[in-house]
Amino acid sequence: MSETYKRYTITAALPYANGPLHIGHIAGAYLPSDTYVRYLRLRQREVLYVCGSDEHGAAITLRAKKEGTTPKAIVDKYHTLIKSTFERFGISFDIYHRTSEPIHHQTSQDIFKVLYEKGEFEEKETEQYYDQTYKQFLADRYITGTCPKCGYEGAYGDQCENCGTSLSPTDLINPISTLSGEPPVLRRTRHWYLPLDKYQPWLEKWLLEGKKGKWKNNVYGQCSAWLKAGLQPRSMTRDLDWGVDVPLPDAKGKKLYVWLDAPIGYISATKQWALDHGKDWELYWKTQPNPADNSRLIHFIGKDNIVFHCIIFPTILHAHGGFLLPDDVPANEFLNLEGDKISTSRNWAVWLHEYLDDFPNRRDELRYTLTAIAPETKDSEFTWKDFQARNNNELVKILGNFVNRVVVLTSKYTEGVVPQPAKLATNHAAINAFAQIRTHIHQIEESLENFRFREAQAEFMNIARVGNGYLTEQEPWKSWKTEPEATKTTLYVGLQIIAMLGVVAKIFLPDTANKIFGLLQLDGDPLKWDDLGREDLLQPGHQIFKGKAPLLFTNIEDAEIEQQLAKLEATKQQNAGVEPPKPEITFEDFGKMDIRIGTILEAARVPKTEKLLQFKVDTGLDQRTIISGVAEYFEPEELVGKQVPVLINLKPRKIRGVLSQGMILFAEDQDGRLKLISPTVQTGAGAAVN
Ligand code: MF3
Ligand code: ZN
Repeated sequence: MSETYKRYTITAALPYANGPLHIGHIAGAYLPSDTYVRYLRLRQREVLYVCGSDEHGAAITLRAKKEGTTPKAIVDKYHTLIKSTFERFGISFDIYHRTSEPIHHQTSQDIFKVLYEKGEFEEKETEQYYDQTYKQFLADRYITGTCPKCGYEGAYGDQCENCGTSLSPTDLINPISTLSGEPPVLRRTRHWYLPLDKYQPWLEKWLLEGKKGKWKNNVYGQCSAWLKAGLQPRSMTRDLDWGVDVPLPDAKGKKLYVWLDAPIGYISATKQWALDHGKDWELYWKTQPNPADNSRLIHFIGKDNIVFHCIIFPTILHAHGGFLLPDDVPANEFLNLEGDKISTSRNWAVWLHEYLDDFPNRRDELRYTLTAIAPETKDSEFTWKDFQARNNNELVKILGNFVNRVVVLTSKYTEGVVPQPAKLATNHAAINAFAQIRTHIHQIEESLENFRFREAQAEFMNIARVGNGYLTEQEPWKSWKTEPEATKTTLYVGLQIIAMLGVVAKIFLPDTANKIFGLLQLDGDPLKWDDLGREDLLQPGHQIFKGKAPLLFTNIEDAEIEQQLAKLEATKQQNAGVEPPKPEITFEDFGKMDIRIGTILEAARVPKTEKLLQFKVDTGLDQRTIISGVAEYFEPEELVGKQVPVLINLKPRKIRGVLSQGMILFAEDQDGRLKLISPTVQTGAGAAVN
């Protein structure tokens, strides 16, 4: 049996308000937390479930830049979309807040100030990358370069997405500012560091010792790897113009680190909820005089958030004092889609709001599939065919079919009135069916208490299987003529099983639960987990739905699946470089470009690079150096002597310390391969192209 707690504080990672929600988000954090919370509520435990939009950090400012707008416009747009999508899908947060609210800024600043006044921060002046053109310090995400570990050229300043190593910007080889495209310079700046190294011994005790065998392996393993590597002080402030102001007099233009303020968002969301409902927020976050009165704090997140929730945020709360620490952090791994990583930037995703548009009234079908394939212990994969199969072969055939058969038979034989059973106490088949169901219910409880949602849901389906097996064995349609009492008993038992399914469905399939209670013409609301101990949820004489019962689930047709696959195929095409046309330009725009035919005089590889060739080109005006990223497609020798179009008035740019003056034009095919463009007749160098 499970331990009991006074109350539960359940958090789900605050999604960045920089894009819509996709099924990876849902499978990672929101569906498991919502399922768990529905379970807790069904058990009548006191629970608060909070979430909100994470509106700060480079994720937001990058998106704003990409869309050519302001961070404020971005967060307003996506906060609204995300909030409404959660509502439409039925995620049952008690509050969905946002980190741009004043109460959040205040709460974050208060916590920062307490740490500051306690002398918890180390103030350090260090050198950080600065973009001279844009006159600003660069967030880690704004710097790309070559990964020192694996050589991948598109690594970010905080992480290499190729090999997963977490980096700091100065680790990158040949860093480039994504703002200006130029190499950034180092400049001195002052920041406040949380000395995680100082807390290492405390973390080893609280986490490594205290959570061993309790937290999931994937979570515990990642934490112990961090601790083994040794923690470093981490700056809690940034030079940025978007975020929460650092509440110190000598910190103009500085903001709190987004990973400091974001998790505090859980607390400020709780404060707002408490204000709205006349509650005391501290009960959910502060240690109580009697530890038995403490809330149980659980963070639901994806695996990329583990270090922040298991190491950094607990350290902040501990250093502050008075706060509860997370009791558990059941992080999930990643969900892939049709053989590839889900990616917002590559549009490789099933967007939740689009799913809701394309599959109206099919929320539970997606819940069911995402729980069935939840990446609880390792990455898993969503495919549309699997989604269809789970619906058609499991929800329709097992659950829907059982419920429908019993309801239809009851309508037929007893006018939809729950019949009086005969001699249940000695009915072996019934006793046996109820005993099996009790085992499954017990297993559901055990699995849910341990965050094994896949297993729990599979056990829920096993209850329907028991029902189907029982019905098939009893053949009530055969006994009706000869032994109507037997038929009535079978229907009575079948109806009780449906009611039990309805109660458990409140956890996994809330819409289906409502439909079941609708068919039973029973107010399912007062039914709670403990009622599952009863085998008489429906009384003889009770009227249920009579007539042609609506189906709980219907098949998803091939055409619907093919439509979704076609959508993904289109994305693939687009990503493969069939470039959409650019906006119209005027003749003057075109006239600004000075394109000439030049002759390649020399070509050579740039040492220590894989992609770059250095050319000397005769433009007719001069002989100049041009660097191009074309080494993968040509041998230098084959280009010497060739005539090529050259954009000669492109602003010169330093690449690997060499000034590149202009650009040679190549044709790029759909696979991104380059082809030489050359006049079909020899032309004098310098001939204008227009
Ligand atoms: N916005 C982050 C992400 O999507 C998650 C923040 S969780 C919080 O990865 F605790 F920091 F809020
Ligand atoms: Zn790497």
